[in-house]
Amino acid sequence: MTVTMTMSALQGKIAIVTGGGSGMGRATALAFAQAGAQVVIANRTRATAEAVAAEIVQAGGQALPLSVDVSRGEDMQRLMQTTLAHFGGLDVLFNNAGISPSGTVTDITEAEWDECLNIDLKSVFLGCKYAIPLLQQRGGGVILNNAGTFGLKPVRGKAAYATAKAGVINLTRAVALDYARDNIRCNVLCPGYVDTPLTEGVPPADRDAFLGQYQPLRGVIQPAEVAALALYLAGEAARMITGQVFVLDGGQQAGIF
Ligand SMILES: NC(=O)c1ccc[n+]([C@@H]2O[C@H](COP(=O)([O-])OP(=O)(O)OC[C@H]3O[C@@H](n4cnc5c(N)ncnc54)[C@H](O)[C@@H]3O)[C@@H](O)[C@H]2O)c1
Repeated sequence: MTVTMTMSALQGKIAIVTGGGSGMGRATALAFAQAGAQVVIANRTRATAEAVAAEIVQAGGQALPLSVDVSRGEDMQRLMQTTLAHFGGLDVLFNNAGISPSGTVTDITEAEWDECLNIDLKSVFLGCKYAIPLLQQRGGGVILNNAGTFGLKPVRGKAAYATAKAGVINLTRAVALDYARDNIRCNVLCPGYVDTPLTEGVPPADRDAFLGQYQPLRGVIQPAEVAALALYLAGEAARMITGQVFVLDGGQQAGIF
C-alpha cells in the first residue's frame, strides 16, 4: 500500500475550524481549503470569520463563516446543525479557538478562571460532543485539538491557561480511546510560541528574551507551520495515528536549555 500526501489531501471533505478568523485557525482554514475541503470558519467575531471565508472563496474554494461562541453549548449545536444543512456532513473538526489569560491563582478571580476553562477546555468537550454524531454518520472522521506546550509544562503566571490546556491533552486521549472503533481519530497539537495576533501584544524584547532562554531553535514559529501539521493529521496519510500529542515548539520540550 502506498500512502501519498497531495495538495488535494482533503478533497471532498467538510471541515470546521473554530477560531478560524485569526492566527493558526486562519492559516489552517486556508490550508484545508487549498487541500480541497469545504470549510466552516467558526469565530466569535463575525467580521474576521467573513474575511477568511472571503479569502477562501476568492481563491476558488468553498467556505462558510459563522459567528459562534465555542464556550456555549447552544452555539456549538447550531454550528454542527448549520454545517450539516449547508455542506451535508462533517469529516474534520479543529477545536482551535482559545484565549490566553495570565495570572497566578491568587491574582485571578473566580470569573476569570471560569471564563478561561470554558473557552479553552469546555469548548473542546462541546465540540467533540456535538461533532461526534456527525462523524459517526460518515463512518469516521478526525478531531484535532489545539493545546500548547504550557499544557505539558506550565510557565509561571499562567495557572488557568496551563490547567485548561493540560485538560485538553487528556481529553484528546479519552476521546481517541472512546471512539477509535467508530474510526474517529483524535489528536492534539502543542505549539510553542507562535507569531499570531494572540502574541502580538508581547513587546519584541520580551519575546526575544523568552525565545532566547527557552527555545533551542532560533526563529518564531509561523501559523502556516502549525497548519501544515494539522493538514497532515487531518488527512488519510495519518489514518493510524490517534490519541497523540504533537509538539511543534522549536525544541522547548526537549529538555532544559
Ligand atoms: N500563539 C501562541 O503562541 C500559541 C501557542 C500555543 C497554543 N496556542 C493556542 O492556539 C489556539 C489559537 O491561538 P492563536 O495564537 O492563533 O490565537 P488568535 O487570537 O490569533 O486566534 C484565536 C481565535 O479564537 C477566537 N476566539 C476566542 N474566543 C472565542 C470564543 N469564545 N468563541 C469563538 N471564537 C473565539 C478569536 O476571536 C480568534 O479569532 C488557541 O487555543 C491558543 O491558546 C497559541
